[in-house]
Amino acid sequence: MQIAKRLEPLKGFFTMEMNIRMARMKQEGREVINLGVGDPDFTPPDHLLQALQEAVGHREYHHYPSFYPIQPLKNAIAGWYQRRFGVALDPISEVLPLLGSTDALFMVHLCLIDPGDIGLVPDPSYASYQACVQLAGGRVEKVPLLKENGFLPDLDKIPSGVAGKAKMIWINYPNNPTGATAPPDFFKKLISWARTRDVAVVSDNAYSEVYFDHQRPVSFMEFPGAKEVGIEIHSLSKSYNCCGWRAGMAVGNKDLLAALARVKNHSDRGMYYPMQLAAIKALNSPDDFKEKRNQIFQERRDMLVEGLNKIGLKAFPPKATFYLWANVPPGYKSQDFCLKALEEANVWMIPGSVYGQYGEGYLRIALTHPVERLREAIRRLSRFMDCSFQS
Ligand SMILES: Cc1ncc(COP(=O)(O)O)c(C=O)c1O
Repeated sequence: MQIAKRLEPLKGFFTMEMNIRMARMKQEGREVINLGVGDPDFTPPDHLLQALQEAVGHREYHHYPSFYPIQPLKNAIAGWYQRRFGVALDPISEVLPLLGSTDALFMVHLCLIDPGDIGLVPDPSYASYQACVQLAGGRVEKVPLLKENGFLPDLDKIPSGVAGKAKMIWINYPNNPTGATAPPDFFKKLISWARTRDVAVVSDNAYSEVYFDHQRPVSFMEFPGAKEVGIEIHSLSKSYNCCGWRAGMAVGNKDLLAALARVKNHSDRGMYYPMQLAAIKALNSPDDFKEKRNQIFQERRDMLVEGLNKIGLKAFPPKATFYLWANVPPGYKSQDFCLKALEEANVWMIPGSVYGQYGEGYLRIALTHPVERLREAIRRLSRFMDCSFQS
């Protein structure tokens, strides 16, 4: 059997390898604190669990999803965008339910990229953007996210020869892995830049509901012209602590959404109906649990930032997301440092280089553990730093 050549550029085995390695360490009796996990350690709120349970209990709700009307879910998504971001969407043509944002993360490239076309991908970034441009046969051009630019792409620095040929650009604010957020001026400039060059913008807003200091992040869709140039993909995963549900949405440009729907017509049969009902319940419910949950993330963030800074790992306090981006000690490659910390301190953090070449020199820590557990991680790292980095 010959596996298709299009898979050749795909990497991404490192995190899988590390998970296997940590499972082996556990079998050997070593108790690792895994600070890599991008899945909230909270459960979905009780009323959502009940809604799902009730729906699953209906004998008649287990047919193909096309058996049931999809419009109530589309209406709930449009209603949520209106209340949360003040964005008016036509629930028929400007909303498309997804099986998690990963669904569109993959398929949007099949809609925008023909073999050889350029896809602009931020670096560092979530690994799927690059992988899926490549799967579609596209050429990846990296757009660096540098500390001195607040981890925003410098659009003026994208060479005109590249920008002129690009079919799409990915943006992701609040950002994984850096925790950066983007100001309104960035989105306005991006829209005008994209319109001039006819580049589609795909905004990944999966983290808009995990924010600190009551500062709610914006949506790309809030800015005039956004619907003309692109779409936003969103997800219930991080918002409602339900990464396993596989419920999300794409909103915005109706032509691109119609194209996505055409591809999805052949790749899945839609969202399980009980899941649709639970998603509707989530999107229509008051959001007060999020503030409480985010307060807990904030306490963890503050404790970790202080602890990391004390032991010499300078951290950038995020305004949103449950990730901390921190510098590795000078002279270390991020992968070497993280592997050493795993071996010697039993603490796993993700090397920045996993997210791209501009991630080198950094590491990512997830705030997805109770504060006591994070304190223990800091104690371990502190002993490790004392032993390994005494001058
Ligand atoms: C930036 C980003 N986008 C998308 C996803 C995928 O989320 P979903 O569960 O909605 O597929 C993740 C998951 O970690 C992510 O970090």
